[in-house]
Amino acid sequence: MSAPSRATPDPVRVVVVGAGGMGRAWIGTVLDSEAAHLVGVVDVIDGAAARAVEEVVPEALRPGVRTGTDTVEVARVAGAEAVIDVTVPAAHHAVTADALHAGLPVLGEKPCAATLAEAISLAGHSESTGTLFMVSQSRRNNPHLQETRRLADELGGAGIVDTRFYKAPRFGGFRDEMEHPLIVDMAIHAFDAGRVLVDADPISVTAASSNPPWSWYAGDAAATVRIDYGGGVVHTFSGSWCSPGRETSWNGEWMISCQGGTVHWDGETPPTAQHADGETLRGRDPEPGDRWELAASLAEFCTALRGGERPRTEVHQNVWTQAIVEAAVCSAETGRRVELAAVLDEALADARRLDAADGRSAALTAWKTGASGLRTG
Ligand SMILES: NC(=O)c1ccc[n+]([C@@H]2O[C@H](COP(=O)([O-])OP(=O)(O)OC[C@H]3O[C@@H](n4cnc5c(N)ncnc54)[C@H](O)[C@@H]3O)[C@@H](O)[C@H]2O)c1
Repeated sequence: MSAPSRATPDPVRVVVVGAGGMGRAWIGTVLDSEAAHLVGVVDVIDGAAARAVEEVVPEALRPGVRTGTDTVEVARVAGAEAVIDVTVPAAHHAVTADALHAGLPVLGEKPCAATLAEAISLAGHSESTGTLFMVSQSRRNNPHLQETRRLADELGGAGIVDTRFYKAPRFGGFRDEMEHPLIVDMAIHAFDAGRVLVDADPISVTAASSNPPWSWYAGDAAATVRIDYGGGVVHTFSGSWCSPGRETSWNGEWMISCQGGTVHWDGETPPTAQHADGETLRGRDPEPGDRWELAASLAEFCTALRGGERPRTEVHQNVWTQAIVEAAVCSAETGRRVELAAVLDEALADARRLDAADGRSAALTAWKTGASGLRTG
């Protein structure tokens, strides 16, 4: 008698909200996935969702995809089980909170929300509804980064993590107008990847930012940021978004100094480990079945919804990354070292005010401090 085969779980029926550039990438990711099934696309601009479906979804599948401007309504009509929030950051709080209160788990694009207070508020909405909110911080889903962590552990664990990020993209649009385009829109990925390499919560941030004379950005396109993790463990980041010439990869270039040697990762190919005695080892190549970036986030989300493990970037865990960003901006503007505990407490007070005005979630009233609420939530 053959052993009973374990049934493959039914694909999770999802609606993608926000039909812009990244929304189209998410629609494609869902279509390629066996764990999820696309049943709807939403955009606040009338007709935008239908246009995205026409461009990205094969004709034969289009009749099964509802479109509209109201997330909860499209999800209800389409019989959706979950939402992928790929709207602009300013809309993340409203779209995600409404979905959670309609009983729909959410996989949201980074950043968690437009402000740290809104991000903490969403952790509270997830608690009060008992509904999963995971943030897709997709650049951490890189097999080379996981391998970098493994090599660093073999050398005794990361003590100094150093990231250099130098590029010269001409985006046009909102990034050219932001006050801190590099820290807020790009360095968030490096800060989050640093958290993959260090097993601790960040304690304080010291940052300085500047705008090179030739910069085509209105805000500061260059910055140096130091994140202290306690016990002497530090992540240093230096970068610029207007540095043509010797550009790094989009993941940046990484050196991880450990007791037994140093790991180097160029952000694109397998890392190498150089031992104290000079011996150099090349890290393992990714396996053909490894999942990367958005596909990895989606698989982790769907697995959690079908009874699997809590995702590594469940909202409470992810908020730390946004707290580093907010602390870096505060430090760059004031010239002071900024304690994460203080930034989180201030944001918790603001989040409680937001929630009191909204009236749907009282979960944050039980948090003793911002940091303890994130650790126990
Ligand atoms: N992980 C990455 O590497 C990466 C890369 C790019 C963008 N992003 C993130 O993805 C998100 C979307 O970025 P984008 O570049 O696609 O932006 P975009 O401006 O191209 O698209 C956003 C879309 O959301 C829609 N929208 C706004 N408010 C809405 C609402 N309330 N309900 C429904 N739709 C609404 C807009 O009409 C627009 O079509 C942002 O959070 C951004 O930070 C992540």
